[in-house]
Amino acid sequence: MARPGLFISFEGIDGAGKSSHLEALAQALRAQGREVVCTREPGGTPLAEKLRALLLAAPMDALTEALLAFAARRDHLVQVIGPALARDAVVLCDRFTDATFAYQGAGRGVDFEMLSQLELMVQTDIAQMPGLMLEPDLTLWFDLPPETAAQRLAGVRLPDRFESQPVEFFRRVAQGYAARAAAAPQRFVRLDAAQERAQVWQQICAALSERGWLPAPAAGSPATGPAHMPANAA
Ligand code: TYD
Repeated sequence: MARPGLFISFEGIDGAGKSSHLEALAQALRAQGREVVCTREPGGTPLAEKLRALLLAAPMDALTEALLAFAARRDHLVQVIGPALARDAVVLCDRFTDATFAYQGAGRGVDFEMLSQLELMVQTDIAQMPGLMLEPDLTLWFDLPPETAAQRLAGVRLPDRFESQPVEFFRRVAQGYAARAAAAPQRFVRLDAAQERAQVWQQICAALSERGWLPAPAAGSPATGPAHMPANAA
């Protein structure tokens, strides 16, 4: 039986512009009468936000990073994501497990098999869905050349531990996302994040309307009208 709710994750290297589109999509879905929960990883609960602060600031080895990310994820799934899906809400999550494979796996060298085992353990038996491994129904992958992302991020704010990594690190992270996308082509939609903000938004609307989650766009116009268009690509 299909599980209730709709779970959409937003992924991409730092600077790819996913956050502002998440807010816009929440508005568009709420306009359809859906309950929408916007959240992020690591984070989304008081405990997971504490783990996020450690992960982004404290020096640690790569496996410790992965374990913290998954510990935060378990709490987030149990407290927020699982219950929201069980009551048939839409969950829009800024990053999820693909980020751990991309950053800690491809970027920092943690063994993929180990990450797969953690994924299975952490994402199974949540809420009233025993035996099911919870994962997104759709992953919007904001794909952007690492050099472009670095230019966008330069000087915007004080970089965290990941944002301050060299462009070579982000090349590996981007390859990690590409590998995850190739392994789950039905779940992933690749967005060309180098395009103008309005065009990226149209790609998102097209992906959702193809699945029947947003109305089909009227010919020649954005799917949900300019009111939902994000003002900033953060
Ligand atoms: P991000 O989601 O980009 O938030 P902000 O917009 O505040 O920068 O930052 C979270 C960082 O955490 C990002 O650099 C990727 C990293 N991260 C991991 O390394 N592993 C993970 O499992 C997750 C979810 C995030």
